Amino acid sequence: MITMHDIIREGHPTLRARAEKLEFPLSDEQKETAQKMMEFLENSQDPEIAEKYNLRAGVGLAAPQIDVSKRMTAVLVPGEEGEEPLFKHILINPTILSESVQMAALSEGEGCLSVDREIPGYVPRHARIKLRWYDLDGNEHVARLRDYTAIVVQHEIDHLNGVLFFDHINQENPFAATDDLILL
Ligand code: CO
Repeated sequence: MITMHDIIREGHPTLRARAEKLEFPLSDEQKETAQKMMEFLENSQDPEIAEKYNLRAGVGLAAPQIDVSKRMTAVLVPGEEGEEPLFKHILINPTILSESVQMAALSEGEGCLSVDREIPGYVPRHARIKLRWYDLDGNEHVARLRDYTAIVVQHEIDHLNGVLFFDHINQENPFAATDDLILL
């Protein structure tokens, strides 16, 4: 299983590299890596397992964060207590097909499993995106995402492009709230 020891932290060059596209069919090893990434998210959101293995709770994990420079990421956005997850997918070669002009940011700012410090500030993201991705078997999927899920996916796709969330924070005024920014 993946634990925090497998997750590389800021300063590691892989986090700043542009990850490579995957070719289908995926190898068994690539599929296994992707499934382990999702398993990490499940474990990290289970209070007992997370405590036992010292896992920080996460809603997304991109392959570069485990030092695999490939365009894949696992996303697990939980639903309400006892409900199905809002979004649970392994995204292979994800692409944003279109995005809203409307921007949104989390009022609490963002965090990252690869960043061991709190970095305050708004991270402006597109409030809505149209996303295309492939699953492990190479099937194409297209979905329209909004709000928190859209923000998580944009954070993960950034990892595939060597971008970290704090790159988007306004240096002079981290909590600069322009009129067109929705705070979630
Ligand atoms: Co991250």
